[in-house]
Amino acid sequence: MSLTRFPNPIYVTRPILPDLDEVHEALEEVWDSKILTNGGPKHQQLEQAINQILKVPTSCLFNNGTIALITACQALRLSGEVITTPFTFPATPHILAWNNITPVFCDIDPVTMNIDPKKIESLITSKTSAILGVHVYGTPCAVHEIQEIANRHGLKVVYDAAHAFGVELDGRGIGTFGDISMFSFHATKLFHTVEGGCVTFNDVYLKPRIDLLKNFGIKNENEVILPGINGKLNEVQAAIGLVNLKYIDQERKKRQQIVNLYHEELGNIPGISMLKLDSKVRPSLQYFVIRIDQELFGYSRDQLHNELKEYNVITRKYFYPLCSDYICYKMLPSSSPENLPVANKVVNEVLSLPLYGQLELDDVRTICGIIQQFHKKK
Ligand SMILES: Cc1ncc(COP(=O)(O)O)c(C=O)c1O
Repeated sequence: MSLTRFPNPIYVTRPILPDLDEVHEALEEVWDSKILTNGGPKHQQLEQAINQILKVPTSCLFNNGTIALITACQALRLSGEVITTPFTFPATPHILAWNNITPVFCDIDPVTMNIDPKKIESLITSKTSAILGVHVYGTPCAVHEIQEIANRHGLKVVYDAAHAFGVELDGRGIGTFGDISMFSFHATKLFHTVEGGCVTFNDVYLKPRIDLLKNFGIKNENEVILPGINGKLNEVQAAIGLVNLKYIDQERKKRQQIVNLYHEELGNIPGISMLKLDSKVRPSLQYFVIRIDQELFGYSRDQLHNELKEYNVITRKYFYPLCSDYICYKMLPSSSPENLPVANKVVNEVLSLPLYGQLELDDVRTICGIIQQFHKKK
């Protein structure tokens, strides 16, 4: 196969871009309502739809996932220390820092790359208030083990489910595990509202508190009862979200085809491995990640990343660097590499390849051909 550089960059993802006429129609309804924000009709409609799609009893929509999770920590009155993973997007530990909480980094499982439940208990102190798991790449955390640990020690469980839209475990919505889960609706996510997010939970009594917190703590015309924030999703975003929902099934189908093709084309290349999800899991199809074993593949992850860039394929080293290596967290005792041997290894192996519905199958074959050919050059 002769391989040439793609004329235009192939990025790791591309947002769902709905038909503009449909968006226009939805915006006309917003204009007709004369309500642009503050929990208008589109907001209410989207919240109901999200409950059904995520199979959760309750949700609260937000202007982004970060503010949603910051607010969730406030709602649960978390404080002191929270045990979390260093292998995640910066928002996860930053959310704790914005709540004056110290992140305590726990090592990850070598297969799922999520927080390793076997290593959580030794990190619990009298200051620990919660465990914050991240369903990295949409792979569910060990939710049952984590809940058992939390129950034994009287801790809350919070999930950063930013990557896990539509994920189910044994037919149960992933947002029903733990005390609160957060989903991101950022443009890079499978479902998006341009920017946006939500929290989901089973305890319906939490909803009034979270709704208050996301609206400055305003109870009524005469009373402000909590130091809240502005976390509201506006009507334009909600309207776009409602249109995007119509595209989700089609987007998932196309992404599944691409994932299957990647598995076929890359499955036999020495040194390349891929995540295999349990049959009990409905996948998120948010990312397609490979792991590179330099010994067997012949080149490092960074070399493959750069080689693909030469062909105009822009892959991402999600989630490099580890949060425990950020200048703002490096000094924490739990950030030491001895505490995080698996995370320190995995972070140099992972590479996210392009995955989005509009990606042509022939382009996927070409990307795999570039990887194959690079391996053979060794
Ligand atoms: C794991 C994780 N947590 C949190 C966030 C933040 O979400 P948002 O961009 O909606 O604020 C992201 C963003 O992509 C993420 O990947």
